Amino acid sequence: MSARKKVAILISGRGSNMAALIQAAAERDYPAEIAVVISDNPDATGLKLAASKGIASGVVERKNFQSKAAHDEAIDQAVRSAGAELIALAGYMRLLSRSFVEKWQGRMINIHPSLLPLFKGLVPHRQALAAGVRVHGASVHFVTPDMDDGPIIAQAAVPVLVGDSEAELTARVLKAEHQLYPVALRMLAEGKVRMEGDRTQFVSVNDTSAGMIAAPSPADDVLDLQHLARITP
Ligand code: GRF
Repeated sequence: MSARKKVAILISGRGSNMAALIQAAAERDYPAEIAVVISDNPDATGLKLAASKGIASGVVERKNFQSKAAHDEAIDQAVRSAGAELIALAGYMRLLSRSFVEKWQGRMINIHPSLLPLFKGLVPHRQALAAGVRVHGASVHFVTPDMDDGPIIAQAAVPVLVGDSEAELTARVLKAEHQLYPVALRMLAEGKVRMEGDRTQFVSVNDTSAGMIAAPSPADDVLDLQHLARITP
């Protein structure tokens, strides 16, 4: 296999998506390795988890910098000094500055718990319940300067069951996120997707369901990973 791509993960909190990526990257044939985890929050529980897996980590707190630009510059330095070539945002709760985003354009991805472009921003599950949608999910997308707005790489759909509470729906989507994110990062690390303007270009992908996973029936929480697994060069 060609060299594994080095990835930096940015977190602010719990780090369950980070953990899913670390677990995936522990597989010998995974095309990426987690070079470093950076948090803007010293109390992020994800930091302990990263340490327990032997992953290098660092804290870059906003309060130690005079401007957002200086904070983002320090994050950029931390990511580069770890040798990272790709960035995966995993519950990183700050909007990154335009100049940071432009530096990493096409090499930085985020996971958002909704079927974008629906329900951007905060409390997407509450928004989904309020809208009365019957299908909800998660998206992995390239990061652009606007929040939750970049080209979509992969999505996972889950049912919204009658009577779902916000907590139940959140848990169902989170489970899907943990399946989706490693697959999307694999696609990027293998060069099977790239960002071209405001679209994702699928390179050498001959499966029309590339980047899509969906619950086969409303009774299934999640999901049939076979679609994504079938992608071939
Ligand atoms: C996830 O739902 C992610 O999609 C969103 O923030 C949450 C972070 O959770 N961006 P975790 O820190 O990965 O557990």
